[in-house]
Amino acid sequence: MTTTISPLIAGNWKMNGTRASLDELSSLATMLTTGAAPRAIVVICPPATMVAAAARQGATSGILVGGQDCHTEGSGAHTGDIAAGMLADAGAQYVIVGHSERRADHGETDDQVRRKAMAAIGAGLKPIICVGETEGQRDAGEAEAVVKEQLAGSVPDAAENHEVNIAYEPIWAIGTGRTPTSEEIAAMHAAIRNSLVERFGERGMDIRILYGGSLKPQNAREILSVENVNGGLVGGASLLANDFYTIISAV
Ligand code: 13P
Repeated sequence: MTTTISPLIAGNWKMNGTRASLDELSSLATMLTTGAAPRAIVVICPPATMVAAAARQGATSGILVGGQDCHTEGSGAHTGDIAAGMLADAGAQYVIVGHSERRADHGETDDQVRRKAMAAIGAGLKPIICVGETEGQRDAGEAEAVVKEQLAGSVPDAAENHEVNIAYEPIWAIGTGRTPTSEEIAAMHAAIRNSLVERFGERGMDIRILYGGSLKPQNAREILSVENVNGGLVGGASLLANDFYTIISAV
């Protein structure tokens, strides 16, 4: 069976950016509105402090906005946390959950990530659920098993009838300038596709699988043309409008 999944390119600004960075967003908007129409859905995930401003600014250029994390609960005594509904209220349409940096820095488990994804869906957001192995796990031949276990634990049953996106981000490729080969990416994305189809049947064919980890203008065309790669989650290269636009244009 073949389906056509609309590609998506998301920029994860991580803990980078202040209001001055909105200039970069307006440069991107200019490129997107004056150049050839992008073939991909374009999403920027700025720090939470900028979600509202980015959403306002993006509204005129078709750039959508996402959060970088949300809490499992809708409200309550959780100082410093942000509920999915608050992101939606600020104008976000997407939210990244279970990024490896959150799993590492904040000890987030698959179960927490799954509940965050459910909270996102409950608030009308589209979660981008991140999975990926460490270098040691890959060297030990465990990469696919690790990713399948993360998928089983992190993807909620609600993916059956709500949009969710998976982002495969090998941890050793994040911010390092190293990437898996196209064959390795194809193998992992096929394994992810298989486990989605095993669990969700035909619906699993429609779930977007993004690649992330040192996705750059130089390698975007090759990586984004790999089978079952339905777009990208871009860190460093999303901070500069020119680089991000080149990646978007590679779709
Ligand atoms: P880099 O593109 O900087 O490697 O980051 C990838 C990433 O973690 C996106 O979420």
